[in-house]
Amino acid sequence: MSDRTLTDPKVIDGKAFAAKLREKIARQVKALKEQHGITPGLAVVLVGEDPASKVYVRNKGEQTKESGMASFEHKLPTTTTQAELLALIDQPNKDPKVNGILCQLPVPKQIDPQAIINAIDPDKDVDGFHVVNAGRLATGGQGLVPCTPYGCLLLLKDRLGDLAGKHAVVIGRSNIVGKPMAQLLLNESCTVTIAHSRTRDLPAEVRRADIVVAAVGRPEMVKGDWLKPGATVIDVGTNRIMGEGGNSHLAGDVDFASASAVAGAITPVRGGVGPMTIACLIRNTMVSAARREGYELAEGL
Ligand code: GUN
Repeated sequence: MSDRTLTDPKVIDGKAFAAKLREKIARQVKALKEQHGITPGLAVVLVGEDPASKVYVRNKGEQTKESGMASFEHKLPTTTTQAELLALIDQPNKDPKVNGILCQLPVPKQIDPQAIINAIDPDKDVDGFHVVNAGRLATGGQGLVPCTPYGCLLLLKDRLGDLAGKHAVVIGRSNIVGKPMAQLLLNESCTVTIAHSRTRDLPAEVRRADIVVAAVGRPEMVKGDWLKPGATVIDVGTNRIMGEGGNSHLAGDVDFASASAVAGAITPVRGGVGPMTIACLIRNTMVSAARREGYELAEGL
């Protein structure tokens, strides 16, 4: 983050918000231990050697333990078959010490990711990707909600308070971010537009938005002059751009320089949405453990 990003009050500090959220969860974990003698546990499965996935899995394990929860890691070779992976998922599914299970994506090409996701017990599906959890979110049921969109929602509510009646434009229609994000905003009584690669006049759609969530995977696509002045902009994009001589840098889906001049509030590429994803994963594991004991976490967690 540049100096300006750190000091500009319109820049949303996701890193600080995520740290506070993890502290609140750690207090809940302590209470669960003291009152019910239970330590929530998260099992993370990694298949193969993808370098970015290895970093994510390490961070997930570390933050799980820092929150006072138990972390179980399963590392499998790239040659693992779908049948072998399904057999492995069966163990944490049955293990009462495990409240959350996730298989880090992407998986090697011989494995169908949706088949693996749907083999996870929906009540332990802390990614919220299982078809049952997608259905619960769509129909107002009590489920587990995908971590990145839930993290975006917490940041939006923290900045804007009540979201009812606001016009939100979500750019991107993935099952992991775009679709659940739109559903969450609809549940907050926003008027929601889902835009995507075939949307005809994207700048015109974005110009109507009080809230813009960009999750499209196109570096710096959303420009400042597309925005309604004062709009709140959440940038989910993390695109690695290779420069000359092997150097690389991260770019969001939003052109931060031009957008930050027009937006009322905006997330930076680093320290924006990213830290919220793991914090919400820890939160979902806690939610799953608490529900097994028959209670719900407080609002705002
Ligand atoms: N790979 C990149 N992001 C994610 C995520 O949120 N969950 C899982 N399981 N894999 C990912």
